[in-house]
Amino acid sequence: MPQIFPKKANLLPVLSLIGAGAGGVFAIFFVWYYFSPEYTDVGYMPEQPVPYSHALHVGQVGIDCQYCHSNVESSAHANIPPTQTCMNCHSQIKTDSPKLLPVRESWATDLPVEWINVHMLPDYVHFSHQVHVKNGVGCETCHGRIDQMEVVRQVEPLSMGWCLECHRQPELYLRPNDQVTTMGFVQPADFVERNAQRIIDEQILPPTNCSACHY
Ligand code: HEC
Ligand code: HEC
Ligand code: HEC
Ligand code: HEC
Ligand code: HEC
Repeated sequence: MPQIFPKKANLLPVLSLIGAGAGGVFAIFFVWYYFSPEYTDVGYMPEQPVPYSHALHVGQVGIDCQYCHSNVESSAHANIPPTQTCMNCHSQIKTDSPKLLPVRESWATDLPVEWINVHMLPDYVHFSHQVHVKNGVGCETCHGRIDQMEVVRQVEPLSMGWCLECHRQPELYLRPNDQVTTMGFVQPADFVERNAQRIIDEQILPPTNCSACHY
């Protein structure tokens, strides 16, 4: 039996909107979208089961993002590190800290620490870390100064308008690939010219058609 409603069923509301597109609904959507204050989750900052601080580990200890988020260049999802990664150090450092108790419990029981998602796109949006990170979009551009955050919070709206702002003018945002995880990146004076050249050389063309992000 083929599935009648495969998992793409959650696209139906979007598709019906697009279907109705010829007429008013489409226009209403755009008016609503571009003129209302952007719908955002900016500032969302859930409390985590362990008071893990990026400000300490990245800002002070100096650990690179990819030591923990090792999948960003190779997959759509950026992984949250497994307990093993924490224990590489915390089997020796702060071994009796009460703040690290859930980590030690996870290690002993083999059950993962239940980290809470901060950034979440709706299911009907297609997004990949790999393609962005490999084309010179810095973590900082989308996630802000993570190296200064005690608790991670969302700093950009992650709305459609926000995605498109960059997709229409990527030359204003790209940086050399070896600077992707740099925090506090300083733009050289000829930044935009260099990016414009790179965009031609490497044929970087972020999509603006609906089906690239919704399918
Ligand atoms: C020592 C490991 C470690 C390093 C290094 C690290 N992170 Fe994280 N990161 C975590 C853990 C654990 C979480 C989940 C808990 C939290 O949200 O604070 C996390 C969460 C995040 C989140 C939020 C994920 C979500 O749920 O939406 C972002 C964004 C992030 N990190 C970006 C970065 C960036 C950018 C860097 C480098 C500047 C970095 N991290 C370096 C361990 C690390
Ligand atoms: C490369 C080594 C390293 C890794 C990997 C690492 N940490 Fe740490 N962590 C440190 C250092 C260094 C300190 C500061 C110790 C001090 O204050 O003396 C620290 C401190 C902490 C503290 C504060 C402890 C206290 O009592 O003040 C917490 C909580 C913590 N780390 C959680 C984590 C978690 C969760 C992970 C895995 C996602 C992790 N760490 C991975 C090196 C590391
Ligand atoms: C173009 C914008 C963009 C860039 C660049 C970017 N991220 Fe993200 N990140 C997002 C979005 C959007 C989400 C939410 C994804 C979702 O819900 O599917 C996210 C989610 C995450 C998460 C939570 C796990 C996940 O995949 O949902 C982590 C961890 C993370 N990012 C880390 C990083 C790190 C580290 C870098 C740099 C190496 C980075 N991000 C670069 C936009 C970006
Ligand atoms: C700061 C710039 C920037 C932001 C913000 C950004 N993108 Fe992109 N996006 C790019 C670049 C650069 C590419 C690579 C284009 C290429 O490979 O030719 C890209 C490519 C893509 C692609 C094509 C991927 C593929 O597999 O072909 C999709 C889909 C996409 N982005 C979705 C999103 C979504 C969804 C958001 C918002 C949540 C977003 N992007 C935010 C710059 C950005
Ligand atoms: C670069 C990626 C990208 C492209 C291209 C794109 N969208 Fe979106 N779209 C998004 C994101 C991200 C969201 C989720 C916004 C949010 O959560 O606030 C979204 C949300 C939507 C929604 C739902 C709005 C809501 O509030 O429920 C509709 C409808 C939609 N898009 C239609 C379109 C149409 C029609 C096009 C072509 C003209 C299009 N999108 C092109 C990224 C994109």
